[in-house]
Amino acid sequence: MADNKKTGGLAGVTAGKTALCTVGKEGAGLTYLGYDIYDLADNATFEEVAYLLLHGKLPTRAELDAYIAKIKSLRGLPDALKVVLEMIPADAHPMDVLRTGVSFLGNIEPEGDFSNQQETADRLLACLPSMMVYWHRFHTDGIRIDTETDDDSIAGHILHMLHDEAPSELHEKSLSTTLILYAEHEFNASTFAGRVITGTLSDMHSAVSGAIGALRGPLHGGANEAAMELIQRFANAEEATEGVLGMLERKELIMGFGHRVYTTSDPRNKVNKAMSKVLASEKGDMTLYEVSEAIEKVMWDEKKLFANADFFAASVYHFMGVPTYLFTPIFVCSRITGWAAHVMEQRADNKLIRPAAEYIGPALQEWVEIDDRD
Ligand code: COA
Repeated sequence: MADNKKTGGLAGVTAGKTALCTVGKEGAGLTYLGYDIYDLADNATFEEVAYLLLHGKLPTRAELDAYIAKIKSLRGLPDALKVVLEMIPADAHPMDVLRTGVSFLGNIEPEGDFSNQQETADRLLACLPSMMVYWHRFHTDGIRIDTETDDDSIAGHILHMLHDEAPSELHEKSLSTTLILYAEHEFNASTFAGRVITGTLSDMHSAVSGAIGALRGPLHGGANEAAMELIQRFANAEEATEGVLGMLERKELIMGFGHRVYTTSDPRNKVNKAMSKVLASEKGDMTLYEVSEAIEKVMWDEKKLFANADFFAASVYHFMGVPTYLFTPIFVCSRITGWAAHVMEQRADNKLIRPAAEYIGPALQEWVEIDDRD
């Protein structure tokens, strides 16, 4: 057998070029088109970051205003898509709902010859939150919400549709910041899946549907939901410490920890952690935050494993009243920017992605007639 530890999962393999993002690069850290993630998280809106990724430069004020207006104008869902969303069962996972929604949109609003790729990206950015919350509210509250809200920000739009009222500034800013942190991350599994699909000259809806499928898994984006489920198991920090020690002894994976590229920390974690603390004190109950910190401490003390972006994002969303099963779908609403940017980058200098495999199967076999087989 091949040594999976050394060769598996393309670890450490440079599989192509990108001008969009650096992840953990010496002297750069996490950057989007050369901008440091902390500068973006502190100063930018998610819409500015979306524009940066999709247009390759930060917008001027006039460009940003026009872009916000454009995204707002694309929030509506076609009737046929609403029918599809209503037909998807209430017990489906909303990641599957989004995968189907994007795929269906590819039928009724096909991309065509790629000259409209920017339009397709904007449409998906604008209407993924609408799809997500329309399906959720239809099946949990039995109502057909109006997805054409007047909120300027995508974060405000999401929280408004979820809670029937415009969010506080703190909640809108916190959600917006998590969207910035989740927007892009170089050749992560879902983006790479999207680039592989794009490399065949397929359409953007197919690339994004495939990327959603890859993000869904708990080793990737699905970790934020799994992290929430873990945190909620424990009543206090002591229980969490004991519980996680037991899990480690049983060699269980602790979701929201570790990373393929980062070795000592995930730069996005400290931003999420700080937001989680602020939101916990706003709630007046620090228990979940303290449980999270206790888990973080055990993981570092015992395994030198650090919280990744998904761990504290979980409690940030929870404190804002977002149901757990929407955590990974919200990640989609953000990462659509990175995915679409990679689709366009791949197309600009396309080469079919088709690596080789090391063969580990049987040697050449002689054909045996069916009646002569053992
Ligand atoms: N909990 C417990 N142990 C972990 C762990 C975790 N979250 N992450 C890694 N490890 C351990 C592995 O079991 C392995 O131990 P071993 O050498 O004794 O077998 C070692 O650390 C190396 O991990 P490995 O799975 O080989 O690293 P990878 O680069 O293939 O995996 C992840 C990276 C992200 C898939 C992995 O850290 C993980 O599964 N994390 C949990 C899921 C998660 O949070 N995903 C979101 C990523 S942003």
